[in-house]
Amino acid sequence: MKRKVTKAIFPVAGLGTRFLPATKSVPKEIMTLVDRPLIQYAIDEARAAGIKEFIFVTSRGKGALEDYFDTAPELENALRRSGKTALLEELKNTNMESGAIAYIRQHRPLGLGHAVWCARRLIANEPFAVILPDDVIAAEKPCLQQMTEAYAETGGCMVATMEVPPDRVSAYGILDVREDMGNMVSVQGMVEKPSSKDAPSNLAVIGRYILTPRVLQNLNRIKQGSGGEVQLTDAIAEEIHHGRDVFALRFRGQRFDCGSKAGFLQATVAFGLSREDLRDEFAQYLTEMVALQKAAQ
Ligand code: UTP
Repeated sequence: MKRKVTKAIFPVAGLGTRFLPATKSVPKEIMTLVDRPLIQYAIDEARAAGIKEFIFVTSRGKGALEDYFDTAPELENALRRSGKTALLEELKNTNMESGAIAYIRQHRPLGLGHAVWCARRLIANEPFAVILPDDVIAAEKPCLQQMTEAYAETGGCMVATMEVPPDRVSAYGILDVREDMGNMVSVQGMVEKPSSKDAPSNLAVIGRYILTPRVLQNLNRIKQGSGGEVQLTDAIAEEIHHGRDVFALRFRGQRFDCGSKAGFLQATVAFGLSREDLRDEFAQYLTEMVALQKAAQ
């Protein structure tokens, strides 16, 4: 089995109901943390991990996403004419090499597993990554790179994991641990959104995966699992039932759930404070706000 991962699927076909009314016309992945859309953080992370082919599973109304990765000749000319070279450089990161990016439609939002399955013909017979752009991870070494490096040693399937409080397990796929080796966990089962009393651990799967093509075959067979949607975790768990390795990596970094309003606001504050050009003014504003809040209580 080849241990190099060069293809990544970005499932972006969800309805984004938690951000309505904004997501009525703006894809969630185009919403910005400071001045970059969520999808740019995901693409940069994938590039750092050596991904060369980027497969987007989209849906109706996601045209802005395709435009974002296209060239913008008028804008580029205007920036060139006015000597704004730094901005031109910044725009280069948004351009994708011809043929490096593909868009597949998921015609109905039948779940994450179904979205990944929609890309099966472009994956063919090699391992691939899945990145959920609404999980934004701030890390010294990008999370997917941590995973591809670990995967080069282990093979099998790999998910990214983090500990969550017991009252949050019902929002995640939760791991049943076979062996805890510190950074790396060997997995013997996965349960999608268990109640806190049924959860086998408090290790949650978050939006980064490296999967073998067999998972796509499993998705072929899976009918509708928990919540009426085709669950990706069910297809990964099936690998375990067939006696194949599934690992989870406790990545180093901070994950923000930008699919939720509170997580998005937290990420905005964290990324705002991490920017040299904004830090001082923004920190001062936040300090004043906190003081005002305290005084009002
Ligand atoms: P979410 O569970 O966050 O769903 O999907 P959502 O539709 O994006 O947002 P809410 O819950 O309605 O606010 C997790 C990821 O899986 C993708 C989403 O685009 C997101 O990246 N997804 C989900 C699909 O591509 N297709 C689906 O049918 C479901």
